[in-house]
Amino acid sequence: MATVTMTVNGKTVSQEVEGRTLLVQFLREGLGLTGTHVGCDTSQCGACVVHVDGKAVKSCTMLAAQADGCQVTTIEGIAKGDILHPVQAAFREHHGLQCGFCTPGMIMSAVDMIERHNAKLDEATIRHELEGNICRCTGYHNIVKAIKAAADEISGSLAAAAE
Ligand code: FES
Ligand code: FES
Repeated sequence: MATVTMTVNGKTVSQEVEGRTLLVQFLREGLGLTGTHVGCDTSQCGACVVHVDGKAVKSCTMLAAQADGCQVTTIEGIAKGDILHPVQAAFREHHGLQCGFCTPGMIMSAVDMIERHNAKLDEATIRHELEGNICRCTGYHNIVKAIKAAADEISGSLAAAAE
């Protein structure tokens, strides 16, 4: 057992974990942050995506001990109180979900994607970037539409802020 300490959604947390504890187990079972899902055991589905030091990571592929000292953000940490993150709002507006199981991972991947591309995204890039996220329900069209809408909105806000 070892003690790991990290900042999760802005709060410092410290817990004893076994060396084999995955980051996703630590978040779900240790901290009760069950918005991060586990959809496979082969690192393929992307339901477990969180941000570690600002980068999207499949939290089933990382040990909790490897996140020691890191800043972790989960789906529970992106809204501002009652105000949804623009990507969350766009998924709701554009019906980017059905059962919702893939949605936390999709949204965390989308937020990272939008940041990396400075909110300049076309449909082909979004589809390419979503390679690591699997949805069994939607056929992806509305997910892509939602991410494009969020990127366009964020791009507009960035442009307005720069004027
Ligand atoms: Fe992590 Fe499927 S649970 S990729
Ligand atoms: Fe059901 Fe994506 S909405 S898996």
